[in-house]
Amino acid sequence: MMDRNIGLEAVRLTEAAAMASARLMGRGDEKAADQAAVDAMRKAFNALHIRGTIVIGEGERDEAPMLYIGEKVGRGAADDPEVDIALDPLEGTTITATGGPNALSVIAMSDKGNLLNAPDTYMDKIAVGPSGAGAIDLRKSPTQNLRAIADRKGVYVEDLTVIILNRPRHEKLIAEVRQSGARIKLIGDGDVSAAIATCFIETGVDVLMGIGGAPEGVIAAAALRCCGGDMQGRLAFRNDKEIERARKMGIADPNRIYTVEEMAKGPVIFAATGVTSGDFLKGVRFFKGGAATQSVVMRSKSHTIRYLETTHFFEHKPSFAL
Ligand code: FBP
Repeated sequence: MMDRNIGLEAVRLTEAAAMASARLMGRGDEKAADQAAVDAMRKAFNALHIRGTIVIGEGERDEAPMLYIGEKVGRGAADDPEVDIALDPLEGTTITATGGPNALSVIAMSDKGNLLNAPDTYMDKIAVGPSGAGAIDLRKSPTQNLRAIADRKGVYVEDLTVIILNRPRHEKLIAEVRQSGARIKLIGDGDVSAAIATCFIETGVDVLMGIGGAPEGVIAAAALRCCGGDMQGRLAFRNDKEIERARKMGIADPNRIYTVEEMAKGPVIFAATGVTSGDFLKGVRFFKGGAATQSVVMRSKSHTIRYLETTHFFEHKPSFAL
């Protein structure tokens, strides 16, 4: 069983990854920013008192040398809990490379076997915060969903703001949402942050719709479980090879619609640190000899949401002296 303190331990990992990649903000190099986050998170794992297995990570073993799917991480002592991990050391590589908003470092943990082993394909997603929970259904049209969400929230469809990744594949979706009367916020990247934003009223975001990464879908589901939001996902394949790969990973029905609980079951813990400032977290700020980070740690069991403002002094923490 996961101890409740693991969340407060896990946030050290996202802090380390956020600080490392934030150094490369705006430098136009996605790969370097991602690599810095991966290296820092991998290193920080060694101090974590878990027997962890990565189920959502940087990719399959042959394509990712570190934090790959199946990699064992953590201290690994016999009495450390066995946990499954979904992570993205840098969610929003392009955002970071251009200094845009909402890049995050994220990690989710569950008891063994409780996170969907999603293949690295796309996923069609719909996500809402607690006030829209129970009103979503991926089998229905965007218009029907928006009406149901508006009813549940006691508002007009015109009051809803839908966040959608700005991609050519969403042309039809965007046209339909516009037709419904809802407001739209188009984003360049970062649908994990967008899904979480639906849970916080001050973001002004009500719904996430559209196709993004499947691994990001599972990470978002873990976060939404913690804050009482709701989500559904259906894998979206680009070709037969992807369907075949999903079969090998144990996905029997490629058209299945997953509920939020089916993507992240049982007690889950979620931690995120802002890399660049955004809707609900501030990015990393450097000062003489250190940096300040803002993070969130959430637990599904208690629905506790903790914000951590952390000041790091590199002189006293040499591993962070980047
Ligand atoms: P990266 O951090 O890997 O660049 O992912 C950013 C992201 O925008 C995700 O938030 C989203 O799920 C996915 O990419 C969308 O994929 P695509 O850019 O291929 O549309």
